[in-house]
Amino acid sequence: MKKIPSNFLWGASTSAYQVEGGWNIDGKGPSVQDVSKGGFLSDLKVGGITDFKVCADHYHHWKEDVALMAEMGFKSYRFSINWTRIYPTGFEDKPNSKGLEFYHNLIDELLKHKIEPLVTIHHFDAPITLEEKGGWANREVMVPAYVKFAKTLFLEFKDKINYWQTINELNMVILFSHVLGKQKKGHDTGTESYQSFHNANVAQALAIKELRKISPSAKIGPAPNISLVYPKTCAPSDVLAADNANVLRNWSYIDPFVKGYYSEILIEYWKANNYQVVILPEDEELFKSVSIDFIAFNYYNSTTAQAPIKDSEYKVGDQEMGFNIENMFQSADNKYLEKTPYGWQIDPIGFRMTSRALHDRYNLPIIITENGLGAKDVLTSDGKIHDDYRIAYLRDHIAQIPLILADGVKLIGYNPWSAIDLVSTHQGISKRYGFIYVNRDEDDLKDLKRYRKDSFYWYKKVIASDGEDL
Ligand code: BG6
Repeated sequence: MKKIPSNFLWGASTSAYQVEGGWNIDGKGPSVQDVSKGGFLSDLKVGGITDFKVCADHYHHWKEDVALMAEMGFKSYRFSINWTRIYPTGFEDKPNSKGLEFYHNLIDELLKHKIEPLVTIHHFDAPITLEEKGGWANREVMVPAYVKFAKTLFLEFKDKINYWQTINELNMVILFSHVLGKQKKGHDTGTESYQSFHNANVAQALAIKELRKISPSAKIGPAPNISLVYPKTCAPSDVLAADNANVLRNWSYIDPFVKGYYSEILIEYWKANNYQVVILPEDEELFKSVSIDFIAFNYYNSTTAQAPIKDSEYKVGDQEMGFNIENMFQSADNKYLEKTPYGWQIDPIGFRMTSRALHDRYNLPIIITENGLGAKDVLTSDGKIHDDYRIAYLRDHIAQIPLILADGVKLIGYNPWSAIDLVSTHQGISKRYGFIYVNRDEDDLKDLKRYRKDSFYWYKKVIASDGEDL
């Protein structure tokens, strides 16, 4: 066991479109999320859930929210910048000054409280105008728009930001685009998806190059959702399926920035399925010319895989549940793991194993940018929220950190999801993750008052003791 160092980045996370609200004010344009009710997915969501127009109204409560984070003792706060607050359609030549002003104020307030801002450039909320032109599948439109957006942020915030993440969970966006930003149903694993994947990797690499010029001491990395894949049994076909799943779900989203190329397993998979992904000769050079400083990753659970079946026979789940990729793998249930009320498996040892695997493969510092438990919390008549289930989940994961450090992994921060209640990607405000309760329901905005949950006081104690008092 190793002691958690005192400079460890303890904090929590949010994303702009899920927490801010203020969806159409101060010049903000519509994003892919604003035009939907509770996200794009219609077949998974239950009726009567909220949209993303008000959320936690952090846009008007940011000062109070940062004060609560400071009260918990946060050393870091991971949030994203709303693309359409800065470039309302993505096509403007000049950024929206009101949008920049909001983030300057937020960042200054964080710095005032000695909270390190960990900024995600893009978290699921591209301008709808860019999406209508094909989104990531359209290289000519999307890549320059993203690089312009990233460059604007680097220039604007270069004196204030030390840690940048390029794109949140590109792997989930590609593998679960029906959930996270497109109106298509079913799993999109065809040419268009992998062209989008490649284009987004090019965009990230170009942005990394820009950062090196503008702010050479700042650090940058991708922020995929990484979940080590176990084989369901020791049958070699299951072990092979798990390895395939690790490549398609996890490693392919980091390899280009560390190794400088895509895995042969991925390329062969494209060939076998006749996916015509256009890769320009200069792209390989580009990947080889960039490097990342850390890997930010979101960890909710491990994944288990078994030998694949035909796609048509598979029942669609959400992004932490499962999927089947014909001839490669099929997600399987892990009978050894308990589940959250929303059916996500809970695996703290998997957190350690995933961290080890990342370390073995890439040998880079890692930061946890999401981890947490979504549940329906209850506000009692005396203003309390007894979320002992959330404390139990977080305690079991945090207890792994000294072990992960003893394994030699360079884990430098833990920022669970979420700092404050926000709207879930597709299950509304009722699926809460925060340390801070926001008083609203799906359709009734009530007073949006903030309440400290039991987990708030508990996490404060954890941070103050450098993770010893669990
Ligand atoms: C991650 C996303 O996939 O999981 C977040 O980065 C999301 O945006 C979080 O909210 C939890 O998922 P959900 O579906 O419960 O909101």
